[in-house]
Amino acid sequence: MEGNQFTNFWQGVPQGPPDPILGVTDAFKKDTAPNKVNLGVGAYRDENGKPYVLESVLKAEDILHQKRLDKEYLPITGANDFITLASELAYGKDSKPLKEGRVAVAQSISGTGALRIATGFLSQYYNGPKVLYLPDPTWGNHVPLAEGVGLKVQRYRYFDKKTVGLDFAGMKEDIKNAEDGSIILLHACAQNPTGIDPTQEQWKELSELVKSKKHLPLFDMAYQGFASGDIIKDAFAARYFVEQGHQIILCQSFAKNLGLYAERAGTFSMVTSSPEEKERVLSQIKRVIRPLYSSPPVHGAQLVATILGNPDLYEQWLSEVKKMADRIISMREKLYNLLIELKTPGEWGHIKSQIGMFSFTGISPEQVQALADHAHIYMTKDGRISMAGLNEHNIQYFAESLSKAVKGELGTKSSL
Ligand code: LMR
Repeated sequence: MEGNQFTNFWQGVPQGPPDPILGVTDAFKKDTAPNKVNLGVGAYRDENGKPYVLESVLKAEDILHQKRLDKEYLPITGANDFITLASELAYGKDSKPLKEGRVAVAQSISGTGALRIATGFLSQYYNGPKVLYLPDPTWGNHVPLAEGVGLKVQRYRYFDKKTVGLDFAGMKEDIKNAEDGSIILLHACAQNPTGIDPTQEQWKELSELVKSKKHLPLFDMAYQGFASGDIIKDAFAARYFVEQGHQIILCQSFAKNLGLYAERAGTFSMVTSSPEEKERVLSQIKRVIRPLYSSPPVHGAQLVATILGNPDLYEQWLSEVKKMADRIISMREKLYNLLIELKTPGEWGHIKSQIGMFSFTGISPEQVQALADHAHIYMTKDGRISMAGLNEHNIQYFAESLSKAVKGELGTKSSL
């Protein structure tokens, strides 16, 4: 009898932990409380807390529908019109390396996919130390994206707990002390999770420092337009580095600024020193992509290309990006005022000064847990909140609950 039994192959597979960010959405979905609030995942919500499809995207959908396009495979590196327009958006139409035809660009499965192409390529072809320096803290997914392909992860100081601001001196010191030629990941704007960016002057200093150390800058650009509402201002750091001659790698996502989360549209790009080198690099990029997913999906790229390639839709999109950014900024103002009105212990100026999708509240993991358990408010364990999850209907409730959590009053009888 025993010999006839099927082998159980998976007995040794341990239960994995929930994803630190997407797992918060799962917990939120399971909660049946009517007043629940999800401030976990960085996804824009309108003033009624609903996912938002941009008008420009809806119009692009109509245009595409009329065209009755086919569903043929895209080339391994994606749709040509898309990658041209997307890289012009990131680098600027007048970008020298773009004009000289020495930027290797490939469509990617949004920002994560771009980073995976980058780490995959670097692990095989980078001649310098295979060490990726990440800001502390950073987006959680950066770590497995590097370690999964054998790159070593190191940290540089970024967040100063005391000032709830940028630890610029610590950041510079760590970048300076890194072995020459290390790979330095920089958030192009709207740093995730802190919402704190270097100033333009600080970026200039960083460019000098990175150059003097012969480091390789890798920009993660997931929020162009979302930080200030202005896509050009938000591209400052990456464009400045390129102007200064850095051969940057850039990972671009259209999830947030076009609201195309599930379409997974983005690009990987790399400035090289000549068109000939670009071709060699691209030939290897193709070999990274092909066994991962063969070629990218078409629809999101078509939407982006339709909007970026049509002057009216482009203008409309710019105003929609600004509208989203402005709504978030107004929520920051309101939350700050409420926390002060409620006499919440601590200094809350950072809620207003931080930019982009997130605010790093500075509350403890215990307070985060208390908010979930007793107020049905969900956020990542590090106290990051997605400001886009706040609106006129829930901000008072959130501010009161946060204030109680900070005062240690949540979970007690009188709390809610
Ligand atoms: C986030 O940080 O919440 C977003 O970038 C979504 C994600 O994939 O983690």
